Amino acid sequence: MKSIAKRIAISSFKGGTAKTSTSLHLASALAKFHKQKVLLIDFDAQANLTSGLGYDPDAQDSLAPVLQGEKKVEEVIVKTSIPNLHLIPADTWLERVEVTGQLAADRYSHERLKQILSPLQYDTIIIDTPPSLCWLTESALIASHHSLVCATPEFYSVKGLQRLATFISNIAERHPMNILGVALSFWNPRGKSNKDFLQIIDETFPGKLLEPKIRRDINVAEASIFGKPVFETAPKSRAAEDYMDLAKEVLKRCKTV
Ligand SMILES: Nc1ncnc2c1ncn2[C@@H]1O[C@H](COP(=O)(O)OP(=O)(O)O)[C@@H](O)[C@H]1O
Ligand SMILES: [Mg+2]
Repeated sequence: MKSIAKRIAISSFKGGTAKTSTSLHLASALAKFHKQKVLLIDFDAQANLTSGLGYDPDAQDSLAPVLQGEKKVEEVIVKTSIPNLHLIPADTWLERVEVTGQLAADRYSHERLKQILSPLQYDTIIIDTPPSLCWLTESALIASHHSLVCATPEFYSVKGLQRLATFISNIAERHPMNILGVALSFWNPRGKSNKDFLQIIDETFPGKLLEPKIRRDINVAEASIFGKPVFETAPKSRAAEDYMDLAKEVLKRCKTV
């Protein structure tokens, strides 16, 4: 029997910080290059991760009926084109799921996701969250042992990290959680304000910036059209290289806590 799966929430409370791309590529790198059995959870009603893996969100169940007690979690897990990488798709029902049915009357509804995921036998479970601080995001953080923070080298992105840091530390008081690191995407090695951005990140999350950064690469956007990660569509691209480095660093950090 496997040990408890490491559960990682990918968070930022913002759109466009590459949460979905980071979730997809971290999960596929762990499955493809590190022989892990991985479950990806699309927990954003926009369902970009689901489409990015080639599934039609309208044709699949999400975690919504599981959270409502109408289905078992095993019934909504689907396979992907990558061996050992499974997915729980998203759909629009996830939006406002907390004010619907059984959940509306449950004072502890935030804890449901954690209860649902705890018995699952995987090496790693990665949860992609919506671009706001909503019930779904809070549930994902509560359900996770680790949080991977996504940011871009832009003023509003790094400034917004302060709010995220406060929110995560509030949750961590009741539900112990480790911040794995801050993953920077759309990195331009020659950016003029790089030093300032890195300094703000280090002040907000001391020692947490992950050394491998994901450079801007059109292959990331193109891969989602094919419903596959860049490791399949452009294995020699710099995005493939950067994401492989990121996965190695994340694994290292998971082992040290
Ligand atoms: N390193 C990158 N280089 C170029 N485009 C990227 C990169 N990472 C993500 N993208 C693209 O940017 C857009 C937003 O990324 P996404 O992962 O969906 O962010 P989020 O989930 O935080 O909203 C998507 O179209 C995605 O394909
Ligand atoms: Mg997203």
